[in-house]
Amino acid sequence: MLPIIEAMSNAGNKVIAVLAARTKDLVILEEQVKEFATEVIVMTDDGSYGEKGLITEGIEKVINREKVDLCLTIGPAVMMKFVSLLTKKYEIPTLASLNTIMVDGTGMCGACRVTVSGKTRFVCVDGPEFDAHQVDFDEMLMRLKAYN
Ligand code: FES
Repeated sequence: MLPIIEAMSNAGNKVIAVLAARTKDLVILEEQVKEFATEVIVMTDDGSYGEKGLITEGIEKVINREKVDLCLTIGPAVMMKFVSLLTKKYEIPTLASLNTIMVDGTGMCGACRVTVSGKTRFVCVDGPEFDAHQVDFDEMLMRLKAYN
């Protein structure tokens, strides 16, 4: 996310970053993100730092106060699923950077297979960014547990 924030900012975009973690100690890269983002909102599940609440609550506050042209989400698959559901409700184009299990990283093994717009895609060669509203996150979450 950091290089994307830097590039978006350098291209003249207003970038609002919402960072989230379970607790204060797990918040990462805040200072680096602050270097490039117009605004940084930190959310923690337990309220130990920033605002108390989930990332979706932080994002929805931004959506409710201003027009958002694009949302990029990177993090745990379940988080990206709920960010995607939120932005779909507001019809905000959203990109998710998927973090599937990868084995060969060359499009040969199929480990990173996901379904996007009803079609099979390989995250390693076709992604990792995809239109979040078209990703089958439930299937992805199930496949992430394949080696548990
Ligand atoms: S990691 Fe093997 S096909 Fe993508």
